[in-house]
Amino acid sequence: MRVSALPIQSHERYEQIFAEVEAPFAFVDLDAMWANAAAMLERAGEKPVRVASKSIRCRALLEAILRRDERFAGLMTYTLAETLWLAEQGFENLLLAYPTADTAGLGELALRSVAHPAGAPIVMVDCVEHLDAIESVLGAGAAPVRVCIDLDAGWWALGGRIKVGPKRSPVHTVEQALALAREIERRPQIELDALMAYEGQIAGVGDRPPGQRLRGAAIRFMQRRSAAELAERRAAVVAALGEFVELEIVNGGGTGSLELTAAEAAVTEVTAGSGFYAPALFDHYSRFSLTPAAGFALPIVRKPSPRVATALGGGYLASGSGDAARLPAPWLPAGLALDPEEGAGEVQTPLLGDAAAELAIGDRAYLRHAKAGELCERFNALHLVEGEEIVDVVPTYRGEGQTFL
Ligand SMILES: Cc1ncc(COP(=O)(O)O)c(C=O)c1O
Repeated sequence: MRVSALPIQSHERYEQIFAEVEAPFAFVDLDAMWANAAAMLERAGEKPVRVASKSIRCRALLEAILRRDERFAGLMTYTLAETLWLAEQGFENLLLAYPTADTAGLGELALRSVAHPAGAPIVMVDCVEHLDAIESVLGAGAAPVRVCIDLDAGWWALGGRIKVGPKRSPVHTVEQALALAREIERRPQIELDALMAYEGQIAGVGDRPPGQRLRGAAIRFMQRRSAAELAERRAAVVAALGEFVELEIVNGGGTGSLELTAAEAAVTEVTAGSGFYAPALFDHYSRFSLTPAAGFALPIVRKPSPRVATALGGGYLASGSGDAARLPAPWLPAGLALDPEEGAGEVQTPLLGDAAAELAIGDRAYLRHAKAGELCERFNALHLVEGEEIVDVVPTYRGEGQTFL
């Protein structure tokens, strides 16, 4: 992959580039995004990287990423409706990472599986009810629907009294994985092709939280222990399932864990999404640093006092625990801060700090979302920047009338 020196990301430069664009608007700095892409490929060693569509939510950029390097292989999708829509648009190698209760969608998937038995999207299961739901839509002569077992990647400490990690699959042990695999084997219309174990407590948790040294040390301890435990358990599950089924895919990891997950021999591929845009929540990891690649600009519309600049809109909070880290991060000009009382508002966001004194009505402030793809739910289009130019304006999922969640 080509990587050249990155242009400096300054307020002045972006203001020149976007001089003709009316704020609010969202953009992706392609130079930064491709530098992040190259860094992630390097961290993933030799393994292919499946691209998490939820963290991109823009069809044109998904296509561009998959074209960029053959090691970006396939998409990890997030709803069945999205998966079917992407398949309709010609995307292949789709792994739906979250279980579905959408029976109409499953019916459509079954039809697609007849047309492309080996290339149909793979759906996630973690219990018998998921298998029953799939079977309920299949006619007698239907082709098998391809499924992936979601293995819980959480870390159980103190004999299971403390459970660290996202609360997702109930399948945690080798025995539980085997039992579900045997249940699948009993059903001729369901084919087990894949295993996924996503270690959110490692990949999605920055281990260098600003101003919290002790917490950082505790996170690093937890992540080391968890990674070692998971590597062993994941290998044991793959070996046990390998006794009677050929797994095409063993998927794991995310932007925050690429080098750790890719190093496991049992893993055939890793996933990454957020690292392309590098949103604010990914600023605090010790293992890597990324370049901010996605942002949004808000117009300054009033000055309640000389040192405060109030922007229009801006309350684009990220999903999750609801802590302050879910607020957007003021970016450029450097030195802006949110007001602790008001945060980022529905229609107005006061910006404080020395830099706010320099902003006048009609200027623009640049902010970053805490998460990646959710930014695209706020804007119909992304302005794509390369060098000193806007090289394209492409629709987000929302801009195509597609809001899946
Ligand atoms: C199943 C799964 N895999 C991988 C990821 C990693 O995605 P990202 O690289 O965007 O953090 C996620 C994120 O939530 C996920 O749910």
